[in-house]
Amino acid sequence: MTTTTPGNAAHDGASATMNDSAFVRACRREPVPHTPVWFMRQAGRSLPEYRDLRSGIGMLESCRQPNLVAEITMQPVRRHGVDAAILFSDIVVPVAAAGVELDIVAGTGPVIADPIRSAADVGRLRRITPDDVDFVDEAVRLLVPQLGHTPLIGFAGAPFTLASYLVEGGPSRTHGRTKALMYGEPDTWHALCARLAEITLEFLRVQIAAGVSAVQLFDSWAGTLSEADYRRYVMPHSAAVLHQLADAGVPRIHFGVGTAELLGAMGEAGADVVGVDWRTPLDAATVRIGPQRAVQGNLDPCLLLAPWPVIEVEVRRVLAEGLAAPGHVFNLGHGVLPETDPDVLTRVVELVHTTSVR
Ligand code: CP3
Repeated sequence: MTTTTPGNAAHDGASATMNDSAFVRACRREPVPHTPVWFMRQAGRSLPEYRDLRSGIGMLESCRQPNLVAEITMQPVRRHGVDAAILFSDIVVPVAAAGVELDIVAGTGPVIADPIRSAADVGRLRRITPDDVDFVDEAVRLLVPQLGHTPLIGFAGAPFTLASYLVEGGPSRTHGRTKALMYGEPDTWHALCARLAEITLEFLRVQIAAGVSAVQLFDSWAGTLSEADYRRYVMPHSAAVLHQLADAGVPRIHFGVGTAELLGAMGEAGADVVGVDWRTPLDAATVRIGPQRAVQGNLDPCLLLAPWPVIEVEVRRVLAEGLAAPGHVFNLGHGVLPETDPDVLTRVVELVHTTSVR
């Protein structure tokens, strides 16, 4: 992997303006011209132009084609005028790069050929090097100049959420096998999460070196844990990732679903911004998270299926509640649902921008 390419000069120039973007400023709790907005899972899913591009190409294969990744990442930026792009990839991409045999099945999610359930299985999970994910480096370097003033968010899965897929073998409602390993074989559990933290850290470092302006750690399923168990079994591993990026110069967003009881701990793990789902109003979340961190969220993605007057009231409510936080990045409480009308997303962006002008 090269760290000095001709593109770097352009990137250095661009990064000064991107650091001044409403999105990065809100993450840093600095004054903003308007509340910035982007949507989790904005790339793909609801866009017809995405489905056209993806037809006949598997999800994992798509993630490994830098030109395709760049084009899919750009689509929602062009269409909606969002304040940030998110790299088109998936949380299991670095795990596949580490040699785990898996597929991403449409409508289901990641499916693992041989689930990891023993110390011997964990022993076979190797670290990754930048060369294992060189396609991500290339995609980010293609994107940064194309995006101009729009910042690019890099991301990775947090150890617990990745472990849940690896142990279950696929999506799970209860995370029963995952918790059985966590409670029953804590040494194996911690070894698994420590290795996943190394993989995640390397994956994020590659993205940061290539020029992303922020990173988001997705711990989508951590909300299935009590606070005590989160602090004991999970937080040290997520904190290892986030703390080692403290000096990387980019804001760190830490996100989960159903995490009302975990918001304080997720902030303490080393986040600059804590993602909040729709169950907790942003003003209440701010009390739990404290004044040292910004918040991101938190419109219920299902609301986007409601009539516009209902959406409008709810967007205004989220913006008003977000004023209680020292920094607010408008988003959904979880990803865009595939059946969402893309025009509604565009209208939400316009409404957030016009309503929140300072
Ligand atoms: O936000 C974005 O638009 C960027 C791309 C992105 C994808 N996955 C693309 C994707 C991001 C940020 C993710 C993260 C991800 N992947 C998470 C964390 C976020 C969350 O939603 O909680 C998780 C848990 C996964 C694992 C995963 N991958 C799931 C649960 C699914 C859904 C299965 C489905 O078809 O609905 C995937 C597949 C996936 N990842 C798709 C996309 C665009 C759909 C695949 C397709 O279009 O064929």
